[in-house]
Order: sequence, then structure tokens, then C-alpha cells
Amino acid sequence: MPVTVVDHPLVRHKLGLLRENGISTKDFRELAGEVARLLTYEATKSLKTEKISINGWAGPLEVDRIAGKKITVVPILRAGLGMMDGVLDMIPGAKVSVVGMYRNEETLEPVRYYVKLAKKIHKRRAMILDPMLATGGTLIATINLLKEAGCRHIMGLFLVSAPEGLARLEREHPDVMVYTAAIDDHLNENGYIIPGLGDAGDKIFG
Ligand code: PRP
Repeated sequence: MPVTVVDHPLVRHKLGLLRENGISTKDFRELAGEVARLLTYEATKSLKTEKISINGWAGPLEVDRIAGKKITVVPILRAGLGMMDGVLDMIPGAKVSVVGMYRNEETLEPVRYYVKLAKKIHKRRAMILDPMLATGGTLIATINLLKEAGCRHIMGLFLVSAPEGLARLEREHPDVMVYTAAIDDHLNENGYIIPGLGDAGDKIFG
């Protein structure tokens, strides 16, 4: 399973600010959006382009245009919404598919409560957004429903990932590409990423 840790200096700097205990909602939101933009830049690096002819100021010329499958972003509610605007700044034409899931804090199993996928999603490349990949349960449930809808090209963008979740993803969906700003140390007994960000949903929504 291809995992890319986006360790650009700007990403590492902003991630460091995100980890600060007591960070304000305003700062967390802004930084999550900024890191999401940088992850998108990296995650779209392998998109194919094609030549098209245009009329430039000095006459006809050929320029590049993104080719192939169009993208749908898939923010996982709630916390994934904190990355969505940053990603859409970079891919303004992307459709949005919304998946609502929360993690039962006792069993750590994902609970699905809302799904609204973009039309003809099987023809699109899906870009899942979630600040945290912890046990991987939420991500795997989301990939399962995207694959059931016919999606074959799936990637995930995360601010912080846990090795446990990545290992589980490797076993269950080795075809899914992951772009993360960091792979942290471990999960604690409550399933929280250490050192992690704390509860990203609460930090974004209050
Ligand atoms: C968090 C996070 C992921 C999930 C990760 O969401 O945003 O969706 O937990 O955990 P997992 O990898 O162990 O499944 P949370 O359940 O806190 O919901 P929220 O975004 O609505 O706050």
C-alpha cells in the first residue's frame, strides 16, 4: 500500500502548531485547511495531463489540462469538513460526497449515520478527507461503501495517522493510497493517537 508522508517544511511547521495544547478553534481550523492544501498538492502529483489547443495572446498554442477521471472529495463528518475547504481551494471543480461516521468510544467501532455520494461516483477518483487515521475502522468502513458504489480509484488524506491503522489498511485495502502529514507513535488504550492532535472534531466544532 503506497503511503506518502508529506514532510515538506511548511507541513511540519504547521503540524507542530496544530499539536499545541490549548490551540484556539480559529487557529486549528485555519491550520487544518492550510495543511490540507499542501497534502492535496502532493496527492495530485501523479494526475495525468493532456495537451489542448488554445488561442494565446501571441497566437495558437498547446497547453496542459488535467485528463482522466474527475475527482470527488469525501469528507468524513465531522472532522473531515475541517479539511474540505482547503482541498476545494486547490480542486475547485471537484464534486463532494459526504460520509457521516463517528467512532463508538467504547467499542472503537465506526457508526454510520449519513451517506450522500456524488452522482456517477464510479467514474470518479475518490479523495477521502479525515484529520485522523487511528484504528482505521472509520476509513475502512468508508472505503467499503465507496467500493460498493463502484469506486476503484481511492486515496485518503490525513493530518496524522497511527501505525496500527495503516497496518490494518494494508491488510484490508492495499490498493488505497495514503497521504499523511505524519505517522505518529502509537494508539493509547482509548484509541487516541499519541502524540496526535487530541480530538480534532471537538477542536474544529467545539
Ligand atoms: C475521529 C476521526 C476519524 C475517526 C478515526 O472521528 O475524525 O473519523 O475518529 O478513528 P478510527 O481510525 O479509530 O476509526 P470521531 O469519531 O471523533 O467523530 P467526529 O469527527 O464527528 O468528531
